[in-house]
Amino acid sequence: MKAELADIGLVGLGVMGQNLALNIADHGYSIAVYNRHPEKTQEFIEQCRHNEPAHERLQGHESLEAFVHGIRRPRKVVLLVKAGEATDATISELLPYLDADDILVDCGNAHWLDTIRREKALAGQGLRFIGSGISGGETGARFGPSLMPGGSLEAWTALEPIWKAIAAKVDAQTGLPLPGAVPGKPVAGGVPCTVPIGPDGAGHYVKMVHNGIEYIDMQLISEAYWLMKNLLGMEADAMARIFQEWNRGPLSSYLIEITGDILQQPDPEGEGYLVDRVLDAAGQKGTGIWTAASALELGSPANAIAEAVFARSLSALKEERLVASGLLQGPILQRETDREEWISAIHEALYCSKICAYAQGFQLMAQAQKSYGWKLDFGAIAQIWRGGCIIRAHFLQKITDAYELDPDLKNLMLDPYFRDALHQGQIRWREVVALAVRNGIPTPAFSSALAYFDGYRSAVLPANLIQAQRDYFGAHSYERTDQPRGKFFHLDWPAPGRPQAEV
Ligand code: 6PG
Repeated sequence: MKAELADIGLVGLGVMGQNLALNIADHGYSIAVYNRHPEKTQEFIEQCRHNEPAHERLQGHESLEAFVHGIRRPRKVVLLVKAGEATDATISELLPYLDADDILVDCGNAHWLDTIRREKALAGQGLRFIGSGISGGETGARFGPSLMPGGSLEAWTALEPIWKAIAAKVDAQTGLPLPGAVPGKPVAGGVPCTVPIGPDGAGHYVKMVHNGIEYIDMQLISEAYWLMKNLLGMEADAMARIFQEWNRGPLSSYLIEITGDILQQPDPEGEGYLVDRVLDAAGQKGTGIWTAASALELGSPANAIAEAVFARSLSALKEERLVASGLLQGPILQRETDREEWISAIHEALYCSKICAYAQGFQLMAQAQKSYGWKLDFGAIAQIWRGGCIIRAHFLQKITDAYELDPDLKNLMLDPYFRDALHQGQIRWREVVALAVRNGIPTPAFSSALAYFDGYRSAVLPANLIQAQRDYFGAHSYERTDQPRGKFFHLDWPAPGRPQAEV
């Protein structure tokens, strides 16, 4: 008997691919799967036969041709292969078997410019392409990720029922994530954490900014931890309790929650806590770098996000730091005794810095939409980050509220709720940064977020001097405060003995 054609196909059976395939099957869709190593496909199908209630909806294929021909037309083919060359190679291999109107859905962490290029090239061949960011790691893929699809609206319409079914769900009233699904039993009801983000590369751009925010969120939490450990002399389990407490307040988020878990984890290899044995050299796969590079290129001041990337780079210079620590002296560290007071000040510093970090991420997306011709819905983006993804947090509901109140909001810091929070927290935030500086404890994220806040709220900055210097040595010209914007002046600077100006 001929097998029924599958509703959708998926290429790439790494853990993310396997879990997404199972999530799709759990929601009642039949799915064809393919991996370039056939033994991996066999192994996956075999394992599912024993453990997964939805295994009957999985169809494993050993050749690409059989895989493609096993999917109902117009076909939807999800790619979960390594971003970059592997994605291009997979697309080229699939092309001979695809038909007009088929839809490829790239769920890798692709660079948005690659997605724009691929969408254009495939459109030329009558195919549709969706670049869909996916966040939530392995568990998210299995039980409900946040999905950020970019592409044409009519391609989205074809994918929409499946994407809405498999996405994480949040409660319509509270915005809180609904409890996770279990194998074979998906979550019923709730608002799905997916919306069409915009054309071509918009989905992957927004996913990239999500990751940039993920970097700064993690860096801020690490700085809070580091201050409690060094300035207050706290042990890991005591800090775990603080993070657990913070997780019940305005900082409540997945990253704060897992930090509480991590800090109370004993070292399975010996005495003490595992966190104290983990080497302090952070890795990165590149999406944070892309975010910072895009901010630099677009002239969007995302300094705290960039600092979070640089902080990882600096941490990775472990051997150099070891040598330098014996050669470069700092101040003598003085422990603070008023633990409660400082913990609450660190909480304020973390919350205020987080507001600035998100303000930078949203400001960057606002800048990008102008450059790439997108029309992003920032309230909706914050909404689909409330569940499923790594940066999920109560806080995101406040961002949605802010954009509902003012869809043209220039900067999140200007929203009344966030403005009040910054006003209330700033004195203690400044005290924390000052204390860290006095004691020689690096807090690049807390400090750069504060510099952003202070810079943004300054009607006047010293850039007048920079403009004068540029005009002095390079005749680059300047505008005047007493003349309309856009009118430029140059002075033939009268400094005696001044060398000829370069042009
Ligand atoms: C997610 C994550 C994920 C990311 C990893 C590793 O949203 O699920 O952002 O996409 O790739 O967390 O990122 P780094 O190796 O760069 O830290």
